[in-house]
Amino acid sequence: MTESPINSERGKYVAAKAALEFIKPGMKVGLGTGSTAAKFVQLLGGLVNNEGLDIVGVPTSSQTRDLAASLNIPLTTLDEAGWLDVTVDGADEFDTKLNLIKGGGGALLQEKIVASASDQMVVISDASKQVTTLGAFPLPVEVIRFGWGTTAKTIAELLEAANVGGHEIRMRMQGEQPFITDEQHFILDLHLKRIGAPRQLANQLNRIPGVVESGLFVVMADTVLVGHEDGMVHTYDRDQGDMGTRAIRIPDDDSLYVPGA
Ligand code: A5P
Repeated sequence: MTESPINSERGKYVAAKAALEFIKPGMKVGLGTGSTAAKFVQLLGGLVNNEGLDIVGVPTSSQTRDLAASLNIPLTTLDEAGWLDVTVDGADEFDTKLNLIKGGGGALLQEKIVASASDQMVVISDASKQVTTLGAFPLPVEVIRFGWGTTAKTIAELLEAANVGGHEIRMRMQGEQPFITDEQHFILDLHLKRIGAPRQLANQLNRIPGVVESGLFVVMADTVLVGHEDGMVHTYDRDQGDMGTRAIRIPDDDSLYVPGA
């Protein structure tokens, strides 16, 4: 579905609001990264500050840590927390089997570690990210800086034989310089067009020396909440399947839905 930026922002807000239902007092909560997760963090901050909700958050990036700290959300590290009740995060693409592409914001490694250490992973998204087959969004792969060119060549060889629709590999840049992740690695964006076998590709990529992690999240999400601009949220659940839509109450104030707000 093609959506205007404002509708997409409204959809993100609806999904973020729906995710609050998964948060209970006393929980340890993984805080995702990106514009959708930021809306969730802002709403969570409102509950903490205005209603005294007692939770502790574990951010998945320096960006989210800064945002959550600015909202006075109590924070801890994953090592201190040990295990989390739930992680709420966005995605760049998802399919109805709840496979994801993540890492458009460059935080895939911490996101995957935090989600893996959680009882539940709840993904929040607007409708534009739903696909039948993953791969239109370039797949981010985090690689060690040492020998990254050799790692890229090994990935290219793997892609020649893989069940994918494209083979182009691009180094993620930030201006003139390579983008550097929070863990001081590079990111290679794989323009695959179609990923026919996500689990197999994820496993094959992870076997390449130099690859730290890929942005393929397979059998990790428990629930995907898809927000629509009219306030409806569609729920896909790993155990219960397609759970249909329901309405979420959202404010009329359009300033909440300005892209980047
Ligand atoms: C960050 O590295 C990503 O995994 C984000 O969760 C993903 O890119 C979604 O971001 P938006 O919510 O900004 O689209």
